Amino acid sequence: MADINIEEARANIGKKGFLDLDIDVNLDLFAEIERLKKEKNAIILAHYYQEPDIQDVADFIGDSLGLAQKAEKTDADIIVFAGVHFMAETAKILNPGKKVLLPDLNAGCSLADSAPRELFRKFKEKYPDHIVISYINCSADIKVLSDIICTSSNAEKIIESLPKEQKIIFAPDKNLGAYLIKKTGRDMILWNGACIVHEIFSMEKITKLKIRHPKAKVIAHPECEEPVLRLADYIGSTTSLLKFSKEDSAMEYIVATETGILHQMQKQSPYKTFIPAPPDNMCACNDCPYMKLNTLEKLYLCMEYEEPQIIMDEQVRLAALKPIQRMLEISRSYGL
Ligand code: 13P
Ligand code: SF4
Repeated sequence: MADINIEEARANIGKKGFLDLDIDVNLDLFAEIERLKKEKNAIILAHYYQEPDIQDVADFIGDSLGLAQKAEKTDADIIVFAGVHFMAETAKILNPGKKVLLPDLNAGCSLADSAPRELFRKFKEKYPDHIVISYINCSADIKVLSDIICTSSNAEKIIESLPKEQKIIFAPDKNLGAYLIKKTGRDMILWNGACIVHEIFSMEKITKLKIRHPKAKVIAHPECEEPVLRLADYIGSTTSLLKFSKEDSAMEYIVATETGILHQMQKQSPYKTFIPAPPDNMCACNDCPYMKLNTLEKLYLCMEYEEPQIIMDEQVRLAALKPIQRMLEISRSYGL
């Protein structure tokens, strides 16, 4: 390690959001990360949208529900969360006694940012007879104001578990909300948030790709806008898209979600072709700028120095735990 000034780097986490230290270029980061996992009894939980190298060193790769369920059960002393802030925060809410590390604290989420606490509190006050179902992609402050949390893989079941006459606010994703209104027939009040990755797929470019690959199936995440979902042959959470792409008989897929998932799709179905659905900009594929803030280098540094950590106010944690536990209980009752 060259020129380490760990104290200075630690003091700068507040400003930078990560440990900014030089790493010896000769260091085998894969081997070092394996060593640190064993020495510290640490587990790496990674979302499918992480870069391939991070997915390859992870102990568990999953969607938001799978990651929360894994975090609930782990007996590791340290949870290293290779994902975004709301995911690591959820792991901390479930594990107050464990260290939860996030390689870069700047790894936020446009959906979580779309719902600031005070605006959401005022919005909620307008509908006193509604219960609040919030997508897990929100801050702990919004979880505190919610009755049940959901993810894209259990949202339908969570809604169906409530009596038909129950009035519902769904936050913060308006696209997922609109999709769920269609699927469940429930008339929910929607918060006006969206994912910057899933709302910029280009209909024109996807249509052109479909013409060039007539046998390809379009598979899409429900955070996509309605016109993209209308084009899709299959809609589901990241885990569900991965399972479908493995079990389905087609050989080509146009994948309308963040490109990180293609790594697992290609690994699990090496003879199939996966084409990332292009966004409405100059890029050919669609990366989440927050997810991609985590790098193998930052992952190694956060494990070596056990920083940056997720630190939470205990009252907020306890209040945010309730709707998460409700989600996990309902999921269990449906065998999810
Ligand atoms: P899932 O992991 O639930 O599929 O959600 C995707 C996502 O956008 C996570 O940020
Ligand atoms: Fe948030 Fe969208 Fe990135 Fe997921 S892909 S973390 S929803 S901005």
